[in-house]
Amino acid sequence: MSAQTAALKGRKIVLGVTGSIAAYKACALCRLLIKAGAEVQVVMTEGAAKLVAPHTFMALSGHPVATDIFKDADKIGHIALSRGADLAVVAPATANTIAKLRNGMADNMLTAGLLAAQCPVVIAPAMNVNMYRNPATQENLQVLSGRGFYIMKPGEGDLACGVRAEGRMPEPEEIVSFIIGILQGGAAPERIGYDPREALPSPQAPLEIGQTRLLPGASGAGLKVVITAGPTVEALDPVRFLTNRSSGKMGFALAEAARARGAKVTLISGPVALPSPAGITRVDVRSALEMLQAVENSLDGCDVFIGCAAVADYRADHIASEKISKRDHGDELTIKFVRNPDIVATVGKLEHGRPFTVGFAAETENGEAHAKAKLASKNLDLIAMNYVKGGDQGFQSDCNELFVYDRDGLEAHLPLQSKQVLAGELADLIFTKYRNAKKD
Ligand SMILES: Cc1cc2nc3c(=O)[nH]c(=O)nc-3n(C[C@H](O)[C@H](O)[C@H](O)COP(=O)(O)O)c2cc1C
Repeated sequence: MSAQTAALKGRKIVLGVTGSIAAYKACALCRLLIKAGAEVQVVMTEGAAKLVAPHTFMALSGHPVATDIFKDADKIGHIALSRGADLAVVAPATANTIAKLRNGMADNMLTAGLLAAQCPVVIAPAMNVNMYRNPATQENLQVLSGRGFYIMKPGEGDLACGVRAEGRMPEPEEIVSFIIGILQGGAAPERIGYDPREALPSPQAPLEIGQTRLLPGASGAGLKVVITAGPTVEALDPVRFLTNRSSGKMGFALAEAARARGAKVTLISGPVALPSPAGITRVDVRSALEMLQAVENSLDGCDVFIGCAAVADYRADHIASEKISKRDHGDELTIKFVRNPDIVATVGKLEHGRPFTVGFAAETENGEAHAKAKLASKNLDLIAMNYVKGGDQGFQSDCNELFVYDRDGLEAHLPLQSKQVLAGELADLIFTKYRNAKKD
């Protein structure tokens, strides 16, 4: 069972669709939720029903779609709508509906249902950039955030009005990740006797949009995370290369764990035989120089950088343009190697826009001393050290054991376990340390 299916199977999700041009994207969201085993009840505003036919959602969800508070009363009552729901998500959420929710209005099936809702509510705004930036909308979102609504940060992209800016509805995959993050952080997985309000922290000072609620399962919400994974491959000639045994499993597991916790993840990977985790941006590279370039291209707005790749320390000074032949070299071949840039140290030492920087140290002996020395010399915030002596941990294995150090010493020992479980624990640790560091 995939992580998505495990989190969503049997969950009741109310999907509110409002009158945004992005309403068609809610069809994909509905499909993803259904595919992961959720039971989806769709509610549409009048505006939404003008843009996408309710029958489309009826076919996708297998349930009648509620649109009119009076006409549909015999099929679905507005109060019953979210009764027993695990979560409600408004995607896309128009400026108009956001304003209504802020004011506690109940003039249609969706707003009335949400006013009565006792479950976590996710808002995925979608609108023209000026509508989004308008102080009225910003204030409405902040107020809703302060009341415990989960506000997603809209994406940037080509808006329907022909402008490239923020305001675009987050992608359906991102919304699903965000929802999973919330559900996994819920107080109790069972619905019976479960008061979802207990899962929500009490309202507090409004927080930044996109970082609205930090339940345990959503520790990465609102963060942009860049992760490197796998080996690098350093060419010697057109057919030969130097590489290492890194499988990429740890970095990929971390990318999946970070995404499941609500982070927006860019995964920069050397050549590996692993499928991309859903909902992340993957950039494939080969050499250390290419990886550095890809990292530099991804750092804009990056909150957390995790250097998990096994980057070659050296590359051939000169890559032969033709195959190196024994005809030319006889019994001995000498290749000059030069140092590769240290990618994690490059990020750790950035003077401007330096993200919270986490490195990995793969050691065969004296792990603690070497890890602490690397932490200091590369100017890292955290370093996760593992032993790579073969056996059932480290490179290529499905399991690992990590010792995590910060500048004060050992922060955590994560005992031998599957890389998936380990990645989740490490992601929570990293995001918590990052947020604490920001508070200081
Ligand atoms: C084609 C079209 C696209 C629209 N797209 C958006 C949008 O992306 N975001 C938004 O806030 N309003 C958008 N509007 C305006 C809303 O539909 C309008 O404010 C309406 O009152 C929203 O009602 P509702 O929130 O009940 O769905 C659009 C209108 C049209 C005709």
